[in-house]
Amino acid sequence: MHQRIQHRPPRIWTFILFLGLGLLTFALAVFPSPAQAAPTYQEDKPSNDFCLACHQEEGISKSLGSESLPVTINPTQFGLSVHSAEGIACVDCHTDIRGYPHPSVKAKSIRAFSLALADTCKECHEDKYEKIRDSVHQTAFDAGNENAPICADCHNPHTQARLIGQESGQLTIAARRDVPATCAACHTDIYDKYKNSVHGAALADGNTDVPTCTDCHGVHNIDDPTTASFRNNTPALCADCHDNAAIMDKYGLSTEVTETYVADFHGTTVTLFEQQFPGQETNKAVCSDCHGVHDIAKVDNAETGIAMQENLLIKCQRCHPDATANFPAAWMGHYPPSPEHYPIVYYVNLFYKFFIPAVLGGMTFFVLTDIYRRIVNRMKGTKHA
Ligand code: HEC
Ligand code: HEC
Ligand code: HEC
Ligand code: HEC
Ligand code: HEC
Ligand code: HEC
Ligand code: HEC
Ligand code: HEC
Ligand code: HEC
Repeated sequence: MHQRIQHRPPRIWTFILFLGLGLLTFALAVFPSPAQAAPTYQEDKPSNDFCLACHQEEGISKSLGSESLPVTINPTQFGLSVHSAEGIACVDCHTDIRGYPHPSVKAKSIRAFSLALADTCKECHEDKYEKIRDSVHQTAFDAGNENAPICADCHNPHTQARLIGQESGQLTIAARRDVPATCAACHTDIYDKYKNSVHGAALADGNTDVPTCTDCHGVHNIDDPTTASFRNNTPALCADCHDNAAIMDKYGLSTEVTETYVADFHGTTVTLFEQQFPGQETNKAVCSDCHGVHDIAKVDNAETGIAMQENLLIKCQRCHPDATANFPAAWMGHYPPSPEHYPIVYYVNLFYKFFIPAVLGGMTFFVLTDIYRRIVNRMKGTKHA
């Protein structure tokens, strides 16, 4: 055919032929062929076995610029993943790969390769892309921080396990326990604090009542935690669990922490303040100023517990720099006075509860009987007079 064209001089035909071929190629590239849309495509598309025949081999890699990307995929691990269980094939995600050699890769680093595939999940999980849009991570990413996480940083597409129990519809215990490790990939310092905290240690033991990173921060829509509104909202965040008797009774912890906090000089002002100036940051103590955030300890912890005055003093001094050893005694505590907690205050209160009605009652009685006697005397006086 090539030959024939060369032997046939009219150039216009050659031009039309190439134009036609060009348009056809363009159409094939842009519009899916009928063969692809038809159900028979399932048989045509390369199977996972085809890809894994090469990709299960240990030690293979692809060089990207000066870096080397390992390309071994473990078939057993892939087989256990949620995507494999749902029948998602390699080529459902790697839509541009149909055979070998693969199309050329432009990325010059491992990160650039990841970022080039960042939209892979969109076709099936579009809702999550909506959620991340205004998150701290996406904002950091849009501002040029390429280390901010994309989907695949938190979810390995080849090994991702099911997170939501199929029957419960809830996050599985294993998924919950693994959350901090997911964030630890980048937030190492915070993770190190959290894992030794009262919440983190309990989580590692499989306790599902304690908060993990995502309970306080959200998952895909993480807000900036350094804002005034986040700070002012801390008491409500903690109260979610700490006011809940169904949770706290298991641990013998007070459910009056918020109530007592709100009644105290700091809480009263924070509550009023928040109503009056919702956008402004409070300078009064919120839960985390005394208890910490990621490093919250049991209050009777031998080293850092704030039930110990000297540990509490350090917290007060941050805002009351002149506070001396006795200052923390001003903190009445989360327990309303009772025979066990603050007995003196309790008995003084109790005393007044009886003393005042008794005195007032006695006086009223005295006054009434006196009036009665005077009236009786007067009546007697009028009779005799
Ligand atoms: C004949 C062996 C072979 C087959 C079959 C094969 N691959 Fe590869 N693949 C490789 C090798 C080797 C590399 C590493 C560098 C290269 O391209 O030579 C690689 C690289 C890759 C990469 C990394 C980046 C890139 O695009 O080069 C991806 C992704 C990939 N393969 C996916 C697949 C998928 C999906 C299939 C099935 C449709 C598949 N491969 C089938 C051998 C194979
Ligand atoms: C749910 C979507 C999805 C499925 C299914 C999937 N991949 Fe991937 N794959 C990705 C994404 C996204 C990346 C980029 C990963 C990153 O950013 O680190 C990737 C990366 C790769 C790489 C480069 C090395 C690496 O691990 O980053 C290879 C090789 C690869 N995939 C092969 C396969 C093969 C073979 C299969 C089938 C057995 C498969 N993939 C199934 C989404 C998928
Ligand atoms: C071709 C469709 C498809 C693509 C592309 C895809 N997924 Fe999935 N994914 C599914 C299906 C189907 C499920 C199981 C049903 C469900 O719970 O959503 C699933 C489940 C998941 C789960 C577990 C959800 C749960 O409820 O337990 C995560 C996490 C996940 N995918 C992440 C990703 C990420 C990250 C990517 C991109 C790298 C990706 N997926 C790409 C189809 C897909
Ligand atoms: C910073 C880490 C992180 C990033 C980035 C991230 N996820 Fe998640 N994702 C998680 C964690 C942790 C969970 C489980 C914990 C939870 O739901 O509280 C989860 C849950 C999920 C689930 C199952 C639960 C549900 O709500 O349906 C899906 C599906 C999912 N992610 C997909 C995605 C996709 C798609 C992207 C990218 C747009 C993405 N994730 C980005 C950490 C992340
Ligand atoms: C791949 C790395 C990576 C992972 C994984 C990751 N983050 Fe981040 N995170 C970042 C980067 C980068 C920033 C932006 C830092 C900055 O702007 O100072 C950030 C910012 C944040 C911020 C805001 C910090 C601030 O000072 O405003 C919070 C909160 C946060 N991440 C929580 C989480 C949680 C919770 C998880 C786990 C579900 C997680 N991150 C997983 C990289 C990561
Ligand atoms: C009990 C709720 C709670 C839990 C659990 C929690 N955080 Fe926070 N986090 C907060 C609060 C409140 C702040 C605001 C900081 C402040 O007031 O000092 C914060 C601040 C942050 C910040 C930004 C400020 C900083 O200190 O750099 C990051 C990043 C962060 N958290 C990540 C995490 C990660 C990762 C985890 C899990 C390992 C986690 N958080 C667990 C409540 C929590
Ligand atoms: C998701 C529920 C939940 C949230 C949110 C939560 N906690 Fe807790 N917290 C618990 C549970 C459950 C325990 C008991 C753990 C144990 O003893 O094993 C606990 C224990 C504690 C203790 C230790 C009490 C003691 O001495 O034994 C303190 C202090 C504490 N939390 C403070 C806070 C503060 C402050 C916040 C908010 C920044 C907060 N918690 C948010 C569930 C929660
Ligand atoms: C985050 C900062 C912060 C911390 C931490 C803090 N306070 Fe305060 N506190 C304040 C502010 C602000 C006021 C209001 C001062 C004013 O109105 O003049 C206040 C008021 C008080 C008052 C009322 C009398 C006065 O001086 O105005 C007492 C008593 C008090 N705090 C005791 C404590 C004790 C005890 C601790 C430690 C357990 C503590 N505070 C920790 C910020 C804090
Ligand atoms: C001014 C400092 C301060 C503030 C603010 C504060 N706490 Fe406390 N908290 C303490 C001290 C001191 C103890 C230990 C002695 C006690 O129980 O009064 C304690 C004890 C606790 C305990 C253990 C209770 C028990 O039954 O043993 C929990 C839980 C707790 N606080 C949660 C909170 C929460 C939630 C907030 C915010 C709504 C908060 N705290 C605000 C100082 C504070």
